[in-house]
Amino acid sequence: MKTKINTSILRLSSILIVLAVLLSSINLTASAAETTLGAAAAQSGRYFGVAIASGRMGDSTYITIANREFNMVTAENEMKIDATEPNQNQFNFTNGDRIYDWARQNGKQVRGHTLAWHSQQPGWMQNMSGTALRNAMINHINRVMAHYRDRGGIYAWDVVNEAFEENGSRRNSNLQQTGNDWIEVAFRTARAADPNTKLCYNDYNIEAWNYAKTQAVYRMVQDFKQRGVPIDCVGFQGHFNSGTAYPNSNFRTTLSSFAALGVDVQITELDIENANSRLDWWRGIVNDCLAVSRCTGITVWGVRDSDSWRASQNPLLFDNNGNKKAAYNTVLDALNAGQPTTPTATTPPSTTPPPNGSVSINAGGAATGSFGADQYFSGGSTYTNTATIDMSQIPSNPPPTSIFNTERYGAMTYTIPNRSGAQTVTLYFAETYLSAAGQRLFNVSIN
Ligand code: XIL
Repeated sequence: MKTKINTSILRLSSILIVLAVLLSSINLTASAAETTLGAAAAQSGRYFGVAIASGRMGDSTYITIANREFNMVTAENEMKIDATEPNQNQFNFTNGDRIYDWARQNGKQVRGHTLAWHSQQPGWMQNMSGTALRNAMINHINRVMAHYRDRGGIYAWDVVNEAFEENGSRRNSNLQQTGNDWIEVAFRTARAADPNTKLCYNDYNIEAWNYAKTQAVYRMVQDFKQRGVPIDCVGFQGHFNSGTAYPNSNFRTTLSSFAALGVDVQITELDIENANSRLDWWRGIVNDCLAVSRCTGITVWGVRDSDSWRASQNPLLFDNNGNKKAAYNTVLDALNAGQPTTPTATTPPSTTPPPNGSVSINAGGAATGSFGADQYFSGGSTYTNTATIDMSQIPSNPPPTSIFNTERYGAMTYTIPNRSGAQTVTLYFAETYLSAAGQRLFNVSIN
């Protein structure tokens, strides 16, 4: 048996249905704990990623762990400016493609890193300034993004990396000297080059909410959102050492505050000095991400300690021999513990739970919290808004606010497969388009 939901539009010209569909009931089946980081993160629709160095891919211990544990890949150096454009307008994707192709062939997604950065610039670019440099940046973004767009696509690109000083001012790089608008030009260029990837700003030391640099990045993202400069995500590198403010840094506040601006947040380069002596940090950081529905994943900056850019600090999840460290078990347990077998936050009380589990769908959007990505539909169109959502009409167990920022509208049908017996159907609506009572009229029919 199938459950069918039809919406029919009475007055097409005046209607935009903002529909976040949740079909749910109590799921009594406990799921077994997952045994790899990627699978454990995937329980909530998140990823767990790793930085890969092309030069190590022939090491069987290394590549076996990487393939088994992770479902997102970042090239540690191979997609940077000096690697991809060693001479001006001569592009070299050999090593980047090696990582990209391995990831895709093994079912993993790829984060692109990074297109505009003061560091690891090729010599020719370091010596450039003014309009020539601005144009070189634009050309670089266009060419590198087009290459990976045409090769099959990238989950997200770190369009701009590390553009702020610790005191919150712009870093005084050659790119900055081309004009304060260089960051937004980079993002606008990136959107046009590949409209199907998420565009991220990425930086370090922006975990603590009450920190000048964090606040400066926050204001930039807020400004971009207000002015329509395209930006989809903020990457928190997460290179922690003994001097880091975590855990008294309100990192969760930072993540949720950025998310409330309408961007995804990700931990992009996580490593922690003396990893095994900071198990509470690993647990806390994983839980911070799990607590924020728009925190879509975590990437660690290497496989084994010996692979790390700061190997002497033993900052990763596998030891030099490829054995799982205590920090690994802490992260895996936190990912598993953070996955309720029942999506309690979205489950209305029910006295007759059906035998066939629950289905939660984020209409028009990606997987968010316990909501899966939009599926089982026919008809309708999707739209994304940046409205601030008033949740006061949802008195208990509210879904993640961000599910209301995506929508499916128009005349549409959702057909949920494999249903039997009584079904509890909960539909969530938000009005983010019209403003007067009576302007929106629609029907919902449920079979
Ligand atoms: C580091 C790499 O891990 C090193 O191999 C390389 O020598 C320098 O760059 N922030 C970033 C990353 O965004 O690109 C940096 O990666 C680490 C800090």
